[in-house]
Order: sequence, then structure tokens, then C-alpha cells
Amino acid sequence: MNILLIGGGGREHALAWALLKSPLTERLVVAPGNAGIAAIAETTALNADDHAAVIGFCEANAIDLVVVGPEAPLVGGLVDALEAAGIAAFGPSRAASALEGSKGFTKELCSEASIPTAAYRRAATREDALAALAEMGAPIVVKADGLAAGKGVVVAETVEDATAAIEACFAGSFGSAGAEVVLEEKLVGEEASFFAVTDGETVLPLATAQDHKRAYDNDEGPNTGGMGAYSPAPVMTEAMIARTMREIVEPTVAAMKARGTPVKGVLYAGLMITDKGPELIEYNVRFGDPECQALMMRLESDLATLLMAAAQGRLAGETVAWSDEPAMTVVFAAKGYPGPVEKGSEIRGLEGLDGPDTVVFHAGTAKDGEKLVAKGGRVLGVTAKGATIAEARDKAYAAVAKVDWPGGFHRTDIGAKALNR
Ligand code: AMP
Ligand code: GLY
Repeated sequence: MNILLIGGGGREHALAWALLKSPLTERLVVAPGNAGIAAIAETTALNADDHAAVIGFCEANAIDLVVVGPEAPLVGGLVDALEAAGIAAFGPSRAASALEGSKGFTKELCSEASIPTAAYRRAATREDALAALAEMGAPIVVKADGLAAGKGVVVAETVEDATAAIEACFAGSFGSAGAEVVLEEKLVGEEASFFAVTDGETVLPLATAQDHKRAYDNDEGPNTGGMGAYSPAPVMTEAMIARTMREIVEPTVAAMKARGTPVKGVLYAGLMITDKGPELIEYNVRFGDPECQALMMRLESDLATLLMAAAQGRLAGETVAWSDEPAMTVVFAAKGYPGPVEKGSEIRGLEGLDGPDTVVFHAGTAKDGEKLVAKGGRVLGVTAKGATIAEARDKAYAAVAKVDWPGGFHRTDIGAKALNR
């Protein structure tokens, strides 16, 4: 089949790499892609916000399946537009994307379906938020309701810090995403990410992962989109996965269906494993990045078959096989990330790094003539698989050491917590 993949990050490079292993994939086009993706697949400069242009491209190129990587086009309703035009698409509708796009929406769904999550209050005005804070006290978590690129959450230890976070939201720090806030009880435990795939009715567990959100070693520095990941997450035992499916993911899929807005695609549950069990911190409706890179290294099933089955409502009876071997991704970011970064610095030394157990996935890369250059915040995801997490880490860091890119930086402690458990 002919597949159009939307996106241009490390997640999409990993998805493209996995889709190309499928005998079903005849042609893969990625929009916009990046330099690494362009080395393995066709790329094109489609604007995902221009639904008519995407539909026109699909019709002109006999595209059988569109796979949407990032959240923005999902929240923008790309899947609704494609399906209305009779084109199969992997990913949720605009309405179902509210699971990621509105924290208040998800919290209400959780209370309706008795899904374990932190106690919360929604507030649409500064006064209501401050009144709720006065009742709830600190520590407390203040969240902008909408999409804020991972920056809209403040875990406040004091009422003063929480007040400042509320004032910032209503002063417009996050634009329309901060027009409403959610105040939450602070959960204590170990965080983990859980991925499932659903066609709106059937839901299959995929795999677990651990992200590293802070920019620098020892979880210091600003929050980022993710500086490294490994899969599986040791805290997610078989029993914990079964509870997460039964208590969180299956009730979510059932509640979305009952509301008439079934959720299709990936459900990525951010969890806190507390002493009571798994509790939902948040949902994303797409693969995580960089988590997806580690996941794709471990996936043994045919990705094209799986995504098409989910898009067409045929997941019942499908199974997904994973390598038992752990995988790890170390993100190489441009200096300055997650703040402003310099673009155009040359990256060398990637030749010969890719092998059966190591792949350098590209995120913000481009070609400048013959040179490979950085053109974004997160630039490479050096990913490796090994018999143990320690071996995966050693292989990933051995490859990282060969990358010659003075304009970049990476954490040196990805996986350290799993190794010190
Ligand atoms: P989110 O964008 O909702 O994933 O939140 C970002 C980060 O804030 C999470 O990965 C957690 O580390 C932290 N966080 C969010 N909500 C809570 C909570 N209720 N209790 C403790 N930590 C939280
Ligand atoms: N790595 C976190 C995310 O993709 O949201």
C-alpha cells in the first residue's frame, strides 16, 4: 500500500524506518520529513494545516493510509477531513484529541468513568483559580488547560509559587491554552509511560517506556520534549500493565465510545505509580518522542498492518510482538535547547553508525549542499538495543561518542535510574 506519514521529527523517522520493513509498504511519502527520513523515503513539503492540499495529494498519489505523527494536526482535525474524503487515517478525530488537547476534558472523563487520577478543580477565571487554591493548599500542580508544548505545568511546593503560576496563565503566558487552568493534587511515586493502540473499540497494549524530561543530567535544568528514553520501564510489571489496561485505558476507550467520540490511534498514558497503584497524569493521543524511537527498535510485528487495522476498525484478533531486549534513545540537541538555538551547525561522523542494533534517528536535521546541518532543537536520537538496559546504554553511548557535532549536547545519564534500581 501507499502510505503518507505526517511529521518530521525523530518519532517520524522511527515510524518511517519501521513502516519500510513491512512487505505491505509499496511507497512511503513523508511530509515534511527531515534529512534522515529523506535518505530512506520520499519527502514532500505538504502543509498539514491545509486539509484540502493533503486530500488532493492523497487522491493524486493513490494514498491508502495516512499516519499522523504529531498532535497539532490531530487537534486541527486532519483525520476528520481525511475520513470525510474516504481516506483511511491513523490517529484520533479532533473531538477525541481533546484527551490530549484539554486537560480539563480528560479530568472530567476520569471522574465520570472512575479512572484513578489526582483530585482536581477546573477554573476559567483567575478569581476562581485563586479561590480553589485557597481551598486546596500546597503542594499543588497548576496546569494550563490546552496544548502548551510541555511548558504549561508547574508543580508548586508553596501557595506563593502556585499563585504565580495562576497569574502567569491568566496573564496570557500560554496564549489561549491558559484561558482555563486545572489545579491538581500532587501525586507521589515513580513515573512511567504506557502506550496502547485502539480502533475505538478494541484496545491492545503496546509497550512501556521511561522518558527523561529535564534538559541536563540528574534531572536538572528546564523541562524539554524529552532528552532520552528507554523501553520497557521496569516499574511497569505485567501486573501493573494489566491494572493500567483494566483501570485506566479500557474505561477511557469505553467512555469515549459511549460519548459518541470514539478514540482511534495511540493512547499514550503518562502514569504515576503510587502506593495505591497506577494513576493517570495525562493522556497524549500520539506516540511520544523520543519514546517512539526506543519502541520501534523493539517492535517485531508489522507496523503497517497494525496501523491500517487500527484505522479501519479491525484490531480485534490482532497481536503485537516485542523483542524482550530493552532499547534506549539518547537525544542530541542543539546547544541552547529548549530555549532558542543556533541553526546551521554541521554534524559529522554518522557514517557507519547504523547497524542491526543501532540506528541514529534524525529530528531537526537538513542538508546544506552535501553537508548535514542542525535545524531544530532536538536534532538526533541515537537509539540502540541490547540484551540488558546496560548493554543498550553502552551501545547507544558508544555511537554518541562518534558523532562529531560541536554545536550539540546530550545527557550522559539516560537510563541511570533503571540501572540503579
Ligand atoms: P504533564 O504535561 O501533564 O505530563 O505534566 C508534566 C510533568 O509534571 C509530569 O511528567 C509530572 O512529572 C508532573 N506532574 C503533572 N501532574 C502531576 C501531579 N498531579 N502530581 C505530580 N506530578 C505531576
Ligand atoms: N516525550 C514526551 C512526549 O512526546 O510528549
